[in-house]
Amino acid sequence: MKTVVSGIRPTGQLHLGNYFGALKNFVKMQHDARCYFFIADYHSLTTHPDPEHLHGNVQNALAEYLAAGLDPEVATIYVQSDLPQTAELSLLLSMHAYIGELERTASFKEKVRKHPENVNAGLLCYPVLMASDILIHRADFVPVGKDQEQHLEMTRKFARRFNTIYGVDYFPESMPYNFGQELTKVPGLDGSGKMGKSEGNGIYLADTDEVIRKKVMKAVTDQGPTEPNQPMAEPIANIFTIMKIVSPEDTYRFFLDKYNACEIRYGDMKKQLAEDIIKVVTPIRDRIAEIKSRQGYLHEVVTAGAERARLSADETMRAVREIMGIKPF
Ligand code: TRP
Repeated sequence: MKTVVSGIRPTGQLHLGNYFGALKNFVKMQHDARCYFFIADYHSLTTHPDPEHLHGNVQNALAEYLAAGLDPEVATIYVQSDLPQTAELSLLLSMHAYIGELERTASFKEKVRKHPENVNAGLLCYPVLMASDILIHRADFVPVGKDQEQHLEMTRKFARRFNTIYGVDYFPESMPYNFGQELTKVPGLDGSGKMGKSEGNGIYLADTDEVIRKKVMKAVTDQGPTEPNQPMAEPIANIFTIMKIVSPEDTYRFFLDKYNACEIRYGDMKKQLAEDIIKVVTPIRDRIAEIKSRQGYLHEVVTAGAERARLSADETMRAVREIMGIKPF
């Protein structure tokens, strides 16, 4: 069975786009591979989160992913900092990571541009830490979005370099996980692009019914079609796409027919869409709240997860230390 590693940023802000996109695929993937999912709290420290909030963020992320269907009986789910072997591997791999290549990383350059007041070494070494998350379990595959492709390429480079320098064939070249089907892309409510691309265009799983209604009613529309079967402008097509994902087929058909007959009333359509989104979100939101209220359960999940993750991490660290010449007396 192939091994898959995936890191989750502890923002605790899943939106419908994540839910119907990557997450649906994660839930399926956990049955097809040996999966390690972890909350990347070390990584989040690069931007100095308030210590008062960090733990809550980790907890939110964990509860959201569990509520969405990640199963701790099937996959190994842990918190990154509960597996300090990752930090040790990161230190060792950093000895063969060159400052120049780290400085040229797109994500680093962007952070430097946006936050010139906070260019710390953790940020520079972000790709080394991420490579360590992946290589600590010698992962065959990593599900990555566009924004993480370069990091995964660097992971392969570090793995190859390690193998070459020490004349071993130890680390695999971790490849992007291919879901084998098109990722469902959920568009945003602000007229263009996908959900989550910009502020205020997304519906979050944590949003209340009222917030959901407000956001949907504010979605961008146009004057309406003036002749039958007129092609749709992007904002309208987006609303139909969201409706196709969350609403029953006949509801979607009903409004599509209205549009094609030039009888569409966007107000009615948005009201219906909001209620259908609420129907999808309510059970997940309830599950998130229920999971968060069971502190004992969360504790059990991450304790068991870290224990399982440690088995594979210890094995890797024993080998890496040996290969690099760090030997027990
Ligand atoms: N960098 C990833 C992100 O921003 C999170 C992450 C950290 C990760 N370590 C990882 C993803 C290892 C996959 C594998 O989304």
